[in-house]
Amino acid sequence: MIDQPQLPHFGTLLAEGKTKLIYAHPEDESLAYMVNKDQITAGDGVRRNELTGKSQWSTITTANVFRLLNDANIATHFVEQINDVTLLVRRCTMLPIEQVQRRIATGSYLKRHPEVSEGTRFEPILVETFLKDDARHDPQIWPEDIISMGLATLSEIEWMAQQGRRVFETLERSWATVDVTLVDLKIEFGRDKRSDLMVADVIDNDSWRLWPGGDKTRMLDKQVYRNLQTVTEQDMQGIADRYALVADLTAKLKPGM
Ligand SMILES: Nc1ncnc2c1ncn2[C@@H]1O[C@H](COP(=O)(O)OP(=O)(O)OP(=O)(O)O)[C@@H](O)[C@H]1O
Ligand SMILES: [Mg+2]
Repeated sequence: MIDQPQLPHFGTLLAEGKTKLIYAHPEDESLAYMVNKDQITAGDGVRRNELTGKSQWSTITTANVFRLLNDANIATHFVEQINDVTLLVRRCTMLPIEQVQRRIATGSYLKRHPEVSEGTRFEPILVETFLKDDARHDPQIWPEDIISMGLATLSEIEWMAQQGRRVFETLERSWATVDVTLVDLKIEFGRDKRSDLMVADVIDNDSWRLWPGGDKTRMLDKQVYRNLQTVTEQDMQGIADRYALVADLTAKLKPGM
């Protein structure tokens, strides 16, 4: 007999995306189960590979990160880890936006701002918002767009920007305790039934750039996968090793000074 992992009793499937499934809680409509998948994707899902173990590493990473955020009194959907691939969360209606916080200029920011050189430090943290629209490659949007789309009010937008900076600063300080530079980070927000906003979705090794010792060449995050020209088995092993290392490191993260 193969040992079956302890499966919670799920309600109906609410959503399935590229990297996770969301199930209703069978008794409590304010809760949901988030089940991570062994999928790694890039380029709006154009590149896609199975990465055995990723669901576990993503679950560990997200649980450890959201525990730090909850302990810092930041409103999040995270309740508890259920098993090695499943989290219990507050059920949300998600905003179709991604909020990016940046400490160091790199990546897509440089394409949009060619006059800025890589490595430029943002103080305070720069906050950008993108509409989740794979077909349109997630265009950048501004407060007036968010308001005209009816997604949030101006005061909610300001509150989310402030929360995003708190999330970033909390995780930046924690990563600094293990000499890893948090370069930038993507988060998502959802609303519970009372319409209260909170940080939702996952924060895992797909969500950020991590540069040990501030050294870009030692990067540990999904950018390594995005940068591949072709995807070999050996490449995937290198990616797996980094995801496993990051999950291990998040278990050691303490609130920083
Ligand atoms: N607390 C929550 N309650 C309800 N749904 C959630 C919650 N957190 C995340 N989700 C939803 O889980 C779904 C699956 O996520 P996944 O990231 O796999 O989707 P995706 O294919 O990447 O698409 P997306 O571009 O929307 O992220 C998404 O629709 C996401 O909005
Ligand atoms: Mg997603």
